[in-house]
Amino acid sequence: NIQACIFDLDGVIVDTAVYHYKAWKRLANTLGFDFTEHQNEQLKGVSRMASLELILGWGGINGKTEEEKLAMATQKNEWYTEMINKMTPAEILPGAREFVESCRAAAIKTAIGSASKNTLTILNKLELTPLFDAVIDGNSVNKPKPDPEVFIKGAEALNARPSQCIVFEDAMAGIEAAIAGGMKTVGIGSADTLALADVVVTGLDKVTLEMLTSI
Ligand code: G6P
Ligand code: MG
Repeated sequence: NIQACIFDLDGVIVDTAVYHYKAWKRLANTLGFDFTEHQNEQLKGVSRMASLELILGWGGINGKTEEEKLAMATQKNEWYTEMINKMTPAEILPGAREFVESCRAAAIKTAIGSASKNTLTILNKLELTPLFDAVIDGNSVNKPKPDPEVFIKGAEALNARPSQCIVFEDAMAGIEAAIAGGMKTVGIGSADTLALADVVVTGLDKVTLEMLTSI
């Protein structure tokens, strides 16, 4: 039986990818290049500094010092936070609130396991913070996904055994992290990209508690 559900944030609870994309694009443009929405797919679930490295690579930009890179990431985050500060609960993805509530009603513990350092800002804007028993985010982990650290810490915070946790993820690195942590996985997105997940659905509006017991 399932003790806990651990949710990634970006792409599972809310679609912030578009804001990340706009902010990174603006940074790339100031550096004199551009990148596509297709390339942006590769940034899903990837930490801020690792995303910057990928983007600089696409622009063929080498030789930036650590200090310059930190300044660029900080600038991007300022643009990003300007956008997320305007978010409202209307931006919660279909079925997300309802599914988390149904977990809680069934005495299943809930946590967020996200790479984002902006997790709490986003949860507060969406008025979802009270629905999670634990929040493990980019400020509380050292090793990014696909390392299982974020989900293992989530399971520990919920007093749940990994084998009795289900992780909901839209990024391949996140599915890999959950598997490495010994957890079951529900992929949110397309079965092509999330082939390793136990089940793949298009969104939390398509998940029921009955489905989970059969994983
Ligand atoms: C999530 C998103 C990534 C983002 C990362 C860090 O994993 O999918 O696109 O880069 O969080 O987010 P942050 O808010 O800390 O820059
Ligand atoms: Mg995600």
